[in-house]
Amino acid sequence: MRTYKLLLLLPTLLLALFSCTAQKSKNTTLKDAYKDKFFIGTALNLDQIHGKDVQSVEIVKSQFSSIVAENCMKSMYLQPEEGKFFFDDADKFVEFGEKNKMFIIGHNLLWHSQAPRWFFTDKDGKNVTPEVLKERIKNHITTIVTHYKGRIQGWDVVNEAILDDGQYRKSKFYEILGEEFIPLAFQYAHEADPDAELYYNDYNEWFPGKREAIVKLVKTLKERGLRIDGIGMQSHLGIETPSLEEYEKAIITYSDLGLKASITELDVSALPSPWGTSANISDVNKYKKELDPYKTGLTPEAEKVWENRYLDLFKLYLKHQDRIRRVTLWGVTDLQSWKNDFPVRGRTDYPLLFDRNYKAKPVVQKLIDLTK
Ligand code: GLA
Repeated sequence: MRTYKLLLLLPTLLLALFSCTAQKSKNTTLKDAYKDKFFIGTALNLDQIHGKDVQSVEIVKSQFSSIVAENCMKSMYLQPEEGKFFFDDADKFVEFGEKNKMFIIGHNLLWHSQAPRWFFTDKDGKNVTPEVLKERIKNHITTIVTHYKGRIQGWDVVNEAILDDGQYRKSKFYEILGEEFIPLAFQYAHEADPDAELYYNDYNEWFPGKREAIVKLVKTLKERGLRIDGIGMQSHLGIETPSLEEYEKAIITYSDLGLKASITELDVSALPSPWGTSANISDVNKYKKELDPYKTGLTPEAEKVWENRYLDLFKLYLKHQDRIRRVTLWGVTDLQSWKNDFPVRGRTDYPLLFDRNYKAKPVVQKLIDLTK
């Protein structure tokens, strides 16, 4: 009799269990769902850092476990004039991360772009000598990393030093110091905070020539006894490129070197790429209506394609969770994304996980469900 009653109750019990689990999964946030996998991060702009953009800040606090500054820690902001450091914005950024117990990333110590002119020139505007540049690099890195010692857990030490074909970029750093500026930067960063993780960060790291050059660089650093913990793969991606296969190969290649890969600046553009539609380089950045087809919103078809791309990427990240330290989105909502102006100015793009009304897109719940 008792068994019979229990059997009758079974559907009700199962239903209750199911709805309880479903409810639980609905309430889970990205950072909770990915807690045992890797950090889920986002980049913060000044309005977020200073708490003016209240709605974004709420999203950041509840959804993300790691932060990086979108701009305010680049050299032109941290040391606008030689010897005059400006830490106010970056200090606020770090305080925010500490208060919310986040994994804080310093981005970046050396980059050819958004660097102040004085860094490379003397009072007559000529290139400085290698000795002077070396001293300036040392002072820049040592001052900043010491200022945040024990508070910033990982640094993008060098950003974008290698070109897609594997050659070194002919930046001012390279022109004056040759490839030596990279080991020097890693050395100075490590000396200033021996506990901080150190990364090399770049884009298109799946291009074979570039991949091999990065592998060579890592080996050189390691042979010289220098610390490097990971490769940052920026990942400003399109719907079709790169292929998952070549992207996966890069993740595997870098982690096979004993490093972790980090996805450091993820966004997936939903717009047609101008690279494929024009043979004329000077035409590439020109605004054309056909390159901006979703002014008032994605079509359901376009949204599906975009969503599937995100799901495929995260399936790949989960497959390689042991090789991946962090997946960081390059911004919170579509409204603020740099992709609205790159590579073509004034378009309406949909690259991030939260929409222009600060609402989680349906993909967010699907990314959470992937971890089950
Ligand atoms: C590169 C840099 C980032 C950012 C983007 C564009 O990827 O590493 O800091 O400037 O370009 O927003």
